[in-house]
Amino acid sequence: MEIIKDGYPSAQQVRIINTALILIMNTPILLPLRLVSVLVITLSTTICRAQRVPVDAAHTIGAESCRDCHKAIVESWERTKHATSFNTLANSEAAHQIAKFIGMKPDQIATNASCVRCHYTQEKLASAVQTTAAVSCESCHGGAEKWIDIHNSKSLTRSDRISQASALGMNHSASAFATAKACFECHVIDDEQLVNKAGHPALSDGFELLSWYSGEVKHNFLVSTEGKPVKSNGHDSQPIPTARKRMIFLTGKMLHLAHSLCAVGCSNDAPVDKAGKLVRLPNGKPTYAVQHAQTVQRLIKEMRELQSKLGIPEYAQALALVESNPLTTGHGKELATAAMEIKRLAEQFSKSNDGSKFAALDKVLELIRPHEANSTKEVAKR
Ligand code: HEC
Ligand code: HEC
Ligand code: HEC
Ligand code: HEC
Repeated sequence: MEIIKDGYPSAQQVRIINTALILIMNTPILLPLRLVSVLVITLSTTICRAQRVPVDAAHTIGAESCRDCHKAIVESWERTKHATSFNTLANSEAAHQIAKFIGMKPDQIATNASCVRCHYTQEKLASAVQTTAAVSCESCHGGAEKWIDIHNSKSLTRSDRISQASALGMNHSASAFATAKACFECHVIDDEQLVNKAGHPALSDGFELLSWYSGEVKHNFLVSTEGKPVKSNGHDSQPIPTARKRMIFLTGKMLHLAHSLCAVGCSNDAPVDKAGKLVRLPNGKPTYAVQHAQTVQRLIKEMRELQSKLGIPEYAQALALVESNPLTTGHGKELATAAMEIKRLAEQFSKSNDGSKFAALDKVLELIRPHEANSTKEVAKR
């Protein structure tokens, strides 16, 4: 089976592709035909503007630098797959297969930027760049060299700590947007060829921000004491405050939509072969573009439902943007622009809300189960 690549398909091929996609998309979980019929994959060559860049090794200082003050958090992180994959990923047969397809030697997996940008953390030690952890504190919170002494400074007010540390590159957890944006940069894979050619997963199946944060990743340990200048570090994990849960959930949907939309816009491979048959990857899934298009469809549906209950202006604008842009051949640039705008709306939403208005959401949130990696569950059972 051949994936149509390099250049535009003929009009005949586009018709076949459109028909195939309508068939693929027209399943019960997916949506109104009007939208379905415009769900066609961009076949023009587009440069993806939103690829995750690795955290700069010149400005990372490593998780050990956090341990003194955030001991419980570091220990909790050490039990997550983010941390443990340091010892497993590069030795796995699956990783070797992927490396082989893109012409990389297995011993480069932990050092080559194509994998490091999502799988590892590097530090500059004794003037040489070294890989020191898998996904670590700074993968999500940003390289800490410049902000570490500011983010906890007792001589500043809390709001100054937050604004000054953020200006120095910290993704401060005071903002749901700031910390959540990193999740989607990695979990919505931004490299089509890594998926279609090398067999890398296209996305994390079932990734939902609140669920995936609430399980093994969750590390709410700080205890805010009334009247104290700074929060103190507790030994026990605290529940995520309800208003905060709402913000994580709602901000996550918008960010997810932006990243999946961008992924569709950046796709170049046709999802069907020359005979019009849906291309299946060796893992049985459709191509990169189709997997992300299906995610966009699902998110639109979810966001519409939420919007009907909550009336969020940023949701209304994001949905209008998706609907005004045809998800169709040759619109990669428009989709990327729409994705950037939706990301901006997510940031605006996160800044201008604290979650208190969205109590109507709580029934939905009760149904969300914390996501644990299988390996972590096995360890927990022992
Ligand atoms: C010398 C002690 C110290 C070190 C070292 C330290 N922190 Fe902190 N950190 C604090 C204190 C105290 C606060 C609370 C500040 C506040 O309330 O504004 C804090 C707050 C935070 C917050 C924001 C939580 C919130 O909402 O208040 C994050 C995120 C964070 N630290 C991450 C890190 C990371 C990542 C490292 C290592 C790279 C690190 N910290 C190293 C003391 C430290
Ligand atoms: C854009 C971010 C990104 C890049 C770049 C990336 N990965 Fe991944 N990779 C992920 C994420 C996220 C997962 C977890 C997917 C999941 O939830 O199943 C993953 C999972 C994997 C897995 C486990 C897959 C499985 O079958 O369970 C392997 C192996 C892997 N990556 C290897 C690589 C190699 C080798 C490279 C470099 C050539 C690479 N990845 C580049 C984000 C990335
Ligand atoms: C720097 C890239 C990166 C960032 C940022 C990131 N992840 Fe991950 N995450 C990964 C990779 C890669 C894996 C898979 C590791 C492996 O299998 O070796 C993973 C695995 C996980 C897992 C375990 C899933 C399983 O079933 O195995 C959870 C849960 C998770 N991530 C949640 C999150 C959340 C929530 C965020 C944001 C708060 C986040 N991740 C941010 C790269 C990242
Ligand atoms: C996968 C991404 C990810 C990783 C890795 C990560 N964090 Fe976080 N961190 C977050 C998110 C998201 C929040 C905000 C949680 C919320 O809103 O309730 C957070 C919150 C925090 C807080 C505030 C906790 C509280 O009680 O409110 C601190 C402090 C912190 N992180 C420090 C660290 C340190 C230290 C490490 C490394 C040992 C680390 N983080 C690793 C994503 C991450």
